[in-house]
Amino acid sequence: MLDHRDFDAEARSILRRNDRGGYTVPTAGLYPHQWNWDSAFAALGFSLFDLNRAWTELETLFSGQWQNGMVPHILFHQQDDGYFPGPDVWGCNGAVPSSGVSQPPVAATIVRRIWDNDRRIGEERIRELYPKLVAWHRWFMTWRLDRDAVCVTHPWEAGRDNAPDWDDTLSGIDATGVGEYLRRDIMAVDPDMRPQKHDYDRYIWLINLGRDSGWDEARLLERNPFRVADPAMTFILLRANSDLAAIGRELGKDVVELDEWTDQLTVGAKSLWNPEIESYDSRDAHSGKWSGCVSNASFLCWYGGLRNNNMLQHFNRIMQAVPYWIPSHDPDSDRFDRLRYWRGPVWPVMNTLIGIGMEEAGLDDEAQTLRESTAELVRTGGFSEYFDPCDGSSAGGKDFTWTAAVWLAWVSGKNGKGGWARYS
Ligand code: DGY
Repeated sequence: MLDHRDFDAEARSILRRNDRGGYTVPTAGLYPHQWNWDSAFAALGFSLFDLNRAWTELETLFSGQWQNGMVPHILFHQQDDGYFPGPDVWGCNGAVPSSGVSQPPVAATIVRRIWDNDRRIGEERIRELYPKLVAWHRWFMTWRLDRDAVCVTHPWEAGRDNAPDWDDTLSGIDATGVGEYLRRDIMAVDPDMRPQKHDYDRYIWLINLGRDSGWDEARLLERNPFRVADPAMTFILLRANSDLAAIGRELGKDVVELDEWTDQLTVGAKSLWNPEIESYDSRDAHSGKWSGCVSNASFLCWYGGLRNNNMLQHFNRIMQAVPYWIPSHDPDSDRFDRLRYWRGPVWPVMNTLIGIGMEEAGLDDEAQTLRESTAELVRTGGFSEYFDPCDGSSAGGKDFTWTAAVWLAWVSGKNGKGGWARYS
């Protein structure tokens, strides 16, 4: 078995190999463009051995920012017929061809962390990025709130594509008009590990709706049946926003507006507590109906800055249910599917955010357990996209950028608690 040092070298080499010059693809083949939150994690990984490259990654991401502040979830810097749906399907006219939805805004938190590595080198670059980050957060606050929790308007905006959280809302969409299309993802990865056709039809249907609405948020607010308040989005924006306010204060900016958003999002985050299942849960913004899902997103409460341990009972239960943690969906639920993407598998990137939050909340033993479980998965199965929580086998794409990045930043233990705890 390789030792830590070799894994560090392998992780760095994956980041280099997935570098396409200014941006990093999540993995070759399956995801051949720049994805928003993958890219922020790539920057985090690069920051541990090439600070300049880390800043460039974020700058390239923000080169695709729309005039309304939105930062798209995919930037198509180059033509690549190996990915569907490409820019022609999305029909967006931003500075860079892109998708029309966003993704979880981890960037401000990562920017803060990277800046802290070297304040002098980062000063000019963070001053450029700061107003762009504020504009992006303002876009979320303007267009995505439901009772002050953050909504997603497409499962891909959540990044948790086929999570059972969206099942009920998606099943209300009649996607018959969507027609034929060629899925590229199931040519690259075992179809049993990917979303099913029922879901995929609705992903495309929602893109068609957005494109036909000119990606006009006001129109979509009226027309889009898919609007779900999401714990991951809410906790991540809440966290990012307080990190952005901390950056702003240090840069001598007026952060009153940001502080107000943090207060608002804290209220929103608490509104996602579903007393029926005693967990943070997703909520359909149109019907007010809960999804009834304990997911890995529910455990981001500590990362979001909430300081109660309500989720520990589920954590302890799930530790007994499966040998590898934390599965993306509750293993005691009948919707759990151990290999199918966000319906069961363990995601090292989510474990990292959960673990950082736990450490900040003083849950050191739980965080350490999670780190060891994640490290074992990577040591055995490599830098895969996700893992089977029942037997630990690797799944999804291989040589994954964000798995390599979080290995360097948290999983290996070398940049763990000491590096993050002071950000809480
Ligand atoms: C895909 O194409 O599967 C992606 O997850 C979209 O973001």
